[in-house]
Amino acid sequence: MCGGAVSEGDFLLNNARVATLAPGEAPYGLIGDAALAVRNGAVAWVGQSADLPGEFGRLEARDMGGRLVTPAPIDCHTHLVAGGNRAREFEMRLEGATYEEIARAGGGIVSTVAATRAASEDALLADALRRADALIAEGVATIEVKSGYGLDTETELRMLRAARRIAGVRPVRVRTTYLGAHAVPPEFKGRADAYIDEVCIPTLHAAHAEGLVDAVDGFCEGIAFSPAQIERVFDAARELGLPVKLHAEQLSNLGGARLAAAYGALSADHLEYLDEDGVRAMAGAGTVAVILPGAYYTLRETRAPPIDLLRRHGVGMAVATDANPGSSPLTSLLLAMNMACTLFRLTPEEALAGITREAARALGLAECGVVAPGRRADLAVWDVDHPAELAYRIGFNPLHARIYGGSP
Ligand code: NIG
Ligand code: FE
Repeated sequence: MCGGAVSEGDFLLNNARVATLAPGEAPYGLIGDAALAVRNGAVAWVGQSADLPGEFGRLEARDMGGRLVTPAPIDCHTHLVAGGNRAREFEMRLEGATYEEIARAGGGIVSTVAATRAASEDALLADALRRADALIAEGVATIEVKSGYGLDTETELRMLRAARRIAGVRPVRVRTTYLGAHAVPPEFKGRADAYIDEVCIPTLHAAHAEGLVDAVDGFCEGIAFSPAQIERVFDAARELGLPVKLHAEQLSNLGGARLAAAYGALSADHLEYLDEDGVRAMAGAGTVAVILPGAYYTLRETRAPPIDLLRRHGVGMAVATDANPGSSPLTSLLLAMNMACTLFRLTPEEALAGITREAARALGLAECGVVAPGRRADLAVWDVDHPAELAYRIGFNPLHARIYGGSP
């Protein structure tokens, strides 16, 4: 019998039910009466207890009491680092102003830009940690964080540095996305092309040189950037070998998803106004659709993303919080799952896959998102009887334990 040496930190979870979320198996990839062996921070084996290979019998066993084990959630779309808040704008919308009207009047994203420029890196980090902690309390092990509230070189870099520091002080992985093409800053008002050439692209180079960029994003919209402008940013990303993603078809259809797919984007996000052409292009490119019900809910949008079309064309759907101070002040992935089901009619299984397997794909991460041998042991243990409960409850957190890279 082979069997590697047992090292400290290796263990066996037994008396568990494991929703592996591995594709093509039982619903949720569910294994009843399961055991799961963790070795060197990775899953070494998962299956029915009765089939456990003898070599894993020597591992320290932890009785899960029949609880459900899933891949640890991944929040694949956040704007966690941001200065200030926009509660006043929330009031204005309740008084009748729309998100676009507020943005065009110099509020919206641009007001967060002013607050972010005024904040130190330490202050940005401290504020972001409060939101990161809310996500981690629900078992989240990987958080994507975008820049895009600096819109000048110094502040964009400061945001990305603050985002990376989250992983230094919390047991969580952070993937940073450069979102210089988020909005036109006030000093470039009416000169979006100049902003792209003089600030956005040079800042991308600076951020990449400092090793701060995992992916490049943009906001393709009437109140932000045109497809032609986004293309220039994507060309720069391509030259640097960086993957791209795009805020697309959120408020109107400018063909953003098609553009993103043409660049082999990891994901296109929001997608309320996506049409079948865009869906086809995403399917062809393997681009994940990131569904953001928090923004739809907050903005009281009435048009839902075309979930049926996405399903029919086999486009993977991720679900994320879009945590940001304006359109989605949401820091609960469990609530995002519930909203995705109730508002968009995702199944609870799709919602759970959306915050695990598909979220990993949306970030280009092959090492997490499902429970399978060789994957990181990023796991969540839940006090629930059935995986559908994770999406079903509202404002209730049934997390029992979180295991991060094999560490409880
Ligand atoms: O993902 N859509 C553009 N960007 C953000 C909104 C940011 C903001 O309003 O501050 C989003 O919804
Ligand atoms: Fe966003």
